[in-house]
Amino acid sequence: MIPPLSLSRADTPLQRLERPSRRLGIDVWVKRDDLTGSGLSGNKVRKLDFLLAQAVEQGADTVITCGGIQSNHCRATAVAARQLGLHPVLLLRGQPDGDPDGNLLLDRILGATLHWTDAQGYARRDQRMAELARDLRAAGRRPFVIPEGGSNAVGALGYVRAGRELTAQAIARGLSFDSVVCAVGSGGTLAGLAMAGLDARVLGVAVCDDRATFRARVQAIAAEGAALGLRLPDAGWDVLEGHQGRGYGLATPEELAIQVRFARETGIFLDPVYTGKAWCAIEHLAATDPGRLGGRVLFWHTGGLFGLFGRGGELVAAMSS
Ligand SMILES: Cc1ncc(COP(=O)(O)O)c(C=O)c1O
Repeated sequence: MIPPLSLSRADTPLQRLERPSRRLGIDVWVKRDDLTGSGLSGNKVRKLDFLLAQAVEQGADTVITCGGIQSNHCRATAVAARQLGLHPVLLLRGQPDGDPDGNLLLDRILGATLHWTDAQGYARRDQRMAELARDLRAAGRRPFVIPEGGSNAVGALGYVRAGRELTAQAIARGLSFDSVVCAVGSGGTLAGLAMAGLDARVLGVAVCDDRATFRARVQAIAAEGAALGLRLPDAGWDVLEGHQGRGYGLATPEELAIQVRFARETGIFLDPVYTGKAWCAIEHLAATDPGRLGGRVLFWHTGGLFGLFGRGGELVAAMSS
């Protein structure tokens, strides 16, 4: 296997969440993957360590990937590409509207080539990226394509490695967790953690779609990973649904208020698209079905901070309601 790059600041801190633990009546810890980097912050860079190692090995000079207009994955890929001297090309779902902010602003600063598409066009994203790659090859470039969210078997290796990092930290501190909870958007993070041999239930919180869709996605990543020596256990992992709220990227005032309280209790920011929903799921289960989480829970913070920007109006409204 190609050795991974070291783009991410691994060995991210494992911290106890004192005030939420007291309020919720369970012992809650956080794995700070919001601290994997600055521009690279979040879960995506752990996948990119493995994915971009392939790109470098193949002699690529351009990286193509795709996501929503505020995609954390696209922004992290653009940052990592520039660190490696590669040109980022992004296929974005949505319409640019006014001044760019959040992740899109960073994509623009980095000079990523942006291709826009609507929801219908985005449904054909893999084909569209293959066409972009073909055109670039015809122009003498050497493109490397990364699928949505970096969520294939190679990308999932980043979270197999991250899971082992958690195990080593937990052993060193004499801790064991009943459950590990993360957000699920394209399935690679959950797939990696589910295959990491953790001594805890791994629960992914669907931020869109449903349990069946994401279970199938994780199983597909695992099937592809068999060639890399990965194995998905039948039990010990699952997808939680019912926490998608109003849908992908949409947050209710109640969810935002919970995320604001979390920041005030911990000094740690959540984002409204991914980590905020995963945290709301933990709060909800702690109140309604604590057995599902067990007595000690690890909340895997997967980043997403830049997704807060451009949403000031909603957040301020949620604070005052
Ligand atoms: C901040 C953040 N957290 C969690 C996720 C979900 O990870 P995955 O796509 O591996 O399911 C994403 C991306 O989708 C993300 O950007």
